[in-house]
Amino acid sequence: MGEETQIDYKTFETALAKSNELEKQLVSNPEKFRVLTGDRPTGRLHIGHLFGSLLNRVRLHELGVETFIVIADYQVLTDRDTFENISENVTQLTIDYLAAGLDPSKRSLAIFPHSHVPELNQLLIPFLTLVTNAELDRNPTVKEEIQAAGQKKINAGMYTYPVHQAADILFCKANVVPVGRDQLPHLELTRTIARRFNDRFAAQQTVFPEPLALLSKSPVILGLDGSQKMSKSRNNAVMLSSTEDETAKLIKKAKTDSERNITYDPENRPEVSNLLLLISLCTGDAPEAIAGKIGDGGSGMLKSMLTESLNEYLRPHRERRRELEANLDHVRDVLKQGVAKAREVAETTLTEVRKSMNMEL
Ligand code: TRP
Repeated sequence: MGEETQIDYKTFETALAKSNELEKQLVSNPEKFRVLTGDRPTGRLHIGHLFGSLLNRVRLHELGVETFIVIADYQVLTDRDTFENISENVTQLTIDYLAAGLDPSKRSLAIFPHSHVPELNQLLIPFLTLVTNAELDRNPTVKEEIQAAGQKKINAGMYTYPVHQAADILFCKANVVPVGRDQLPHLELTRTIARRFNDRFAAQQTVFPEPLALLSKSPVILGLDGSQKMSKSRNNAVMLSSTEDETAKLIKKAKTDSERNITYDPENRPEVSNLLLLISLCTGDAPEAIAGKIGDGGSGMLKSMLTESLNEYLRPHRERRRELEANLDHVRDVLKQGVAKAREVAETTLTEVRKSMNMEL
């Protein structure tokens, strides 16, 4: 592999420019694209997920883009000791997808845990031979996760899950992957694997297309403590499944600052601005205009306005959540159908891959 170009993990500007171009094409020709994206099943989703990625998936799906959503249950094993809750987490994640408006009965959509798609997982084996240890070692997102997990002994799954992620994406020959910035290194690796596969095994024919990242335009939502990204484990998140009372209590405790007059100033007043941004996402009004309306009403008025607009905005989602919680058979059916569809596609791809590698019987 010596002479091949090294993976460039630092291509944010290029990725952003490509993403903007891709966005235009998606809107004008949705039928030309196949989206694959996914999450780790680590629990229920919060409003940061909703505004950050979920609504964008719903939008793409409603444009008519064929959509695959992988629930990366094997990936959970790489950085956590716990696997007891995986099944419950898969169910809750699926409920949040469906409640947000992803609807497999209306448009082409498969939601599936990758552990149930053996043909997808099998792609991992040839893919592992297409990258070097050094390349896996340099992946900046993996490095950060290793630090964050604080593990003394790093399991090999941690280094290789990005290759598994390439299998998640390439098994269905997806050409668009909506992701956040932290996933760009994995996408670059996926593109490299696709290219090397085609070069090495397929006489440069395109068995695998090189998928493009679609970077979400949504703003980063800070936690209610205002200091860091919203996250359940930091206890600063409003869950989609919270009740209206729980939501009110959480917002009451949200951090603000000592200045009474409310202004939108993300740089100098991150906490207050984040709350304004959340109101803006619920109501569609500009954060500056909302700040103007509150003015000397202070943080008390800011918080009551947020509580009211967020609870109202989430009411339909929470209602659908409750219906789905009461109909878990339906949730299971959605997953079973997702698995069936993913397996069909993965089997076709694996057959083609075997043929390329001269492994047919
Ligand atoms: N690595 C992603 C995360 O940690 C989850 C994931 C797994 C994924 N497979 C994927 C995302 C394929 C996009 C496409 O959130």
